[in-house]
Amino acid sequence: MDIKIVPLPAEKMKKKITDESQLGFGKILTDRMLMVEWKAGQGWCDARIQPYAPFVLDPASLVFHYAQEIFEGLKAYKWADGRVAMFRPEMNARRFNQSGDRLCMPPIPEELFLKGIEQLVALEREWIPTSPETSLYIRPTMIAVDPVLGIKPADHYYFYVILSPVGPYYAAGFNPVNIMVEDHYVRAVPGGTGEAKTGGNYASSLKAGLEAKKKGYDQVLWLDGRQQRYIEEVGAMNMFFAYGKKIVTAPLNGSILSGVTRDSVLKLAPTLGYEVEERPLEINDLMADIRSGKITEAFGSGTAAVITPVGKLCYKEECLQLSAGKVGEVTQHLYDSLTGIQTGRIADTFGWVR
Ligand code: COI
Repeated sequence: MDIKIVPLPAEKMKKKITDESQLGFGKILTDRMLMVEWKAGQGWCDARIQPYAPFVLDPASLVFHYAQEIFEGLKAYKWADGRVAMFRPEMNARRFNQSGDRLCMPPIPEELFLKGIEQLVALEREWIPTSPETSLYIRPTMIAVDPVLGIKPADHYYFYVILSPVGPYYAAGFNPVNIMVEDHYVRAVPGGTGEAKTGGNYASSLKAGLEAKKKGYDQVLWLDGRQQRYIEEVGAMNMFFAYGKKIVTAPLNGSILSGVTRDSVLKLAPTLGYEVEERPLEINDLMADIRSGKITEAFGSGTAAVITPVGKLCYKEECLQLSAGKVGEVTQHLYDSLTGIQTGRIADTFGWVR
C-alpha cells in the first residue's frame, strides 16, 4: 500500500528544543504522524503521513468506553555518522499483532507497520536528539472508533504512530530506582490481558503506583495474580536479578509482557560471559538471597527504561539495599553493551539494528 504524504505547512512546524537535557520523557511530540484506517469489508486503507493534529472523535467511540486499544514502544537513534537506526522494530510489529489478537483487533501487515514507521522517522529525522541517553521514542497505537455503545469488536479502527524526542524515562537518569513489591493489588491474572500491551493494564496499575510514590518508591513490582508469591514485572520494565555472573528473570507465563529489551538481555548476556536463566522467582526466596548477599544486583529492562538499576527492594516491612545503592558492575556492563549496539558504537553481531 502506498503511503500518501500530506504536506506540512511551514507555519505549522514546531520549534525544536535546543537543550536536550530538558527533554524528559514523552512531553514533546514531533510535527508529523502516520495514520492508517481499517474498515470492516475494506481492510487497511487510506495510509498517510500527515501534520500532527488532534483527532475529532465521537464521544461514543468504543475506545473511550471499553478500552479496545493497543500500543507499542520502540526507539530510533541518530548515529555519529548521521545514519538513523531503529532497534528490532520487527519484534514490535509482531507483538503489536499479538496484543491485537487478544483485544480482537485486526492484524496490521508487518511490512506496512515497518515501512510506515521508517518513512515517518525519515521525514522527522531532524527531531532525533543526539546527546547521551536520548533517542526518538516511537509510539504505534490502535484504537476502536465506532460510535456505538454495545460491547463488541469494532468495525472501524485508527492505527497511528506518533514520535517523541526523549531523555531518560526516570528523571534521575541512569541511577538506581527504589521498588516496592505490591502485595495488595494485582496487575494481571492467568488468562487475562497481562501479556498484551494494552492501555487498560496501565490504567489499572495507577492506584498502586500512586500509593507507592506517596511512600517514596519509584515503581511497584507486581506479584502473580493467583498466589501473590512469584514476581512478575514492573509495568514499565521486566526484572532481572544477578547472582554474581548468573542473571535470572521470571519466565513468560502469559501474564508478563514479553519485553524486547528483556529478550535482548537474554541473548546479549551470554556473549558477555554471563549465564542466563528464566525460572519462577518466589519473592521470599529473592528477599532471602538479597539478605544473604547471593543476589548482588537487580535491574529492570524496557524500551523506555533501557536498563535501570534497582537501589532498594522493599517487601512488606522489609527494605533491602542492592549494590550499596550504586550502579552495579553487571548492570553497567549490560547497559553499555546494549546502548552501544543501539547507537552504533558497538558492532551489531545480532542483526538487531535496522
Ligand atoms: C516502553 O518501554 O516502551 C513502554 O511502553 C513502557 C511505558 C512507557 C509504558
